[in-house]
Amino acid sequence: MAETPNPPLSSRRGAAACPFDPHPELARRRAEEPVSATDTPAWLGQDIPTWLVTSYTDVRTVLRDPARFSSVRRNPEKPDEPLEAERSGRLLEHDPPEHTRLRGKLVDAFTVRGINAMRPRIEEIVEEHLDAMERTGPPCDLVTSFALPVPSMVICELLGVPYDDRTDFQRRTARLLDNTAPVTEFIAGMAEMNAYIGGLVAAHRTTPDESLLSRLVREHGDELSDEELTGIGALLLIAGHETTANMLSLGALLLLRHPDQLAAVRDDPDAVAPAVEEMLRYLSVVHAPMPRYATQDMEFGGRRIGAGDIVETSLAAANRDEGLVAGDPDRFDITRKPVAHVAFGHGPHQCIGQQLARLEMHLAFPALLRRFPGLRLAVPFEEVRYRRESTVFGVRELPVAW
Ligand code: HEM
Repeated sequence: MAETPNPPLSSRRGAAACPFDPHPELARRRAEEPVSATDTPAWLGQDIPTWLVTSYTDVRTVLRDPARFSSVRRNPEKPDEPLEAERSGRLLEHDPPEHTRLRGKLVDAFTVRGINAMRPRIEEIVEEHLDAMERTGPPCDLVTSFALPVPSMVICELLGVPYDDRTDFQRRTARLLDNTAPVTEFIAGMAEMNAYIGGLVAAHRTTPDESLLSRLVREHGDELSDEELTGIGALLLIAGHETTANMLSLGALLLLRHPDQLAAVRDDPDAVAPAVEEMLRYLSVVHAPMPRYATQDMEFGGRRIGAGDIVETSLAAANRDEGLVAGDPDRFDITRKPVAHVAFGHGPHQCIGQQLARLEMHLAFPALLRRFPGLRLAVPFEEVRYRRESTVFGVRELPVAW
């Protein structure tokens, strides 16, 4: 049997004693060689020169410069060509002006005002899940009873995806986010996901409703092909539930480890928004860097990077840089002054769903902590298991009691 490759360095975390910390090697590289050579991640191919960027300044430079650092994934078999397979409509894998055209179709749906309109329904979804937890009683797994279903239901209702299909799409998403799987697995997984979403796009064309997929068909159905609508829908579904779910469960675990800060989030409404920003920074759940490809030979960070080389950015390392947080970047402190963290990325691909993710977290954390003031881990901290192989870091399950 083939040996399972390790996750890329950027996705490895610290010692079991502090699983929230990025791998210590990342801190060393950030201090000594902020642009350094690294192994090619399995899901991008083999033996393509690959660079890992770890400092806050350099990470931001890469992410905001698509002319030099392209998001168009290359075909590992033919590195001069884009990996066209299943890429249509997936914003993350396009550069301007194509990316600008696609993203432009979505901005209306993701304005602060548009997202705020969802507040009452999100509150309801949160309360319903807390009611169910209360009915069932402790102990329970916070991932399956709260952290995963809340954002899954929200994104399903926003997009117009049947929530009853969740077991399948959650399984497909986990497969797509596996950092250790070879590129062929990714392509097969994406094809499966697209077949599913493609069926939904066709259904929204014939039977429209008020959901985002129907709106996209109605308002942009002539300018966007079915493949593009499918790609957009698939990306929103994948990005829209898994990320927030891991922030909710890992964030809850982090707060349980810091009871004073947990109490502030529970009791002081003004503490919630800054606490969520600090959790985003400190946890950096999207820890496998979305790759960029050098479009030209260049000198960058003291290295000679060749056209076609892969350039990885570590958001987790950048968010722990003294250049962002002077003095104590490795301390979790919800009272610190807000900083321009990169947990949602930076530049043209910066997360389009960030206002939605924030709103979900602003509502979910205090509601959970108020409903169960005695919330505690139901297993020793050392026994919590993590999703180390995933593009999005988190816990596998979080047994809690109250
Ligand atoms: C805490 C939750 C979330 C985190 C930490 C997060 C993180 C990120 C990051 C780091 C990127 C940039 C990737 C890159 O530059 O290559 C990104 C992009 C994206 N995110 Fe999120 N995200 C979250 C929630 C969401 C939600 C709720 C949605 C959808 C409703 C969403 C949809 C997207 C989309 C569509 C993109 C691609 C944007 C583009 O390429 O223009 N995300 N996200």
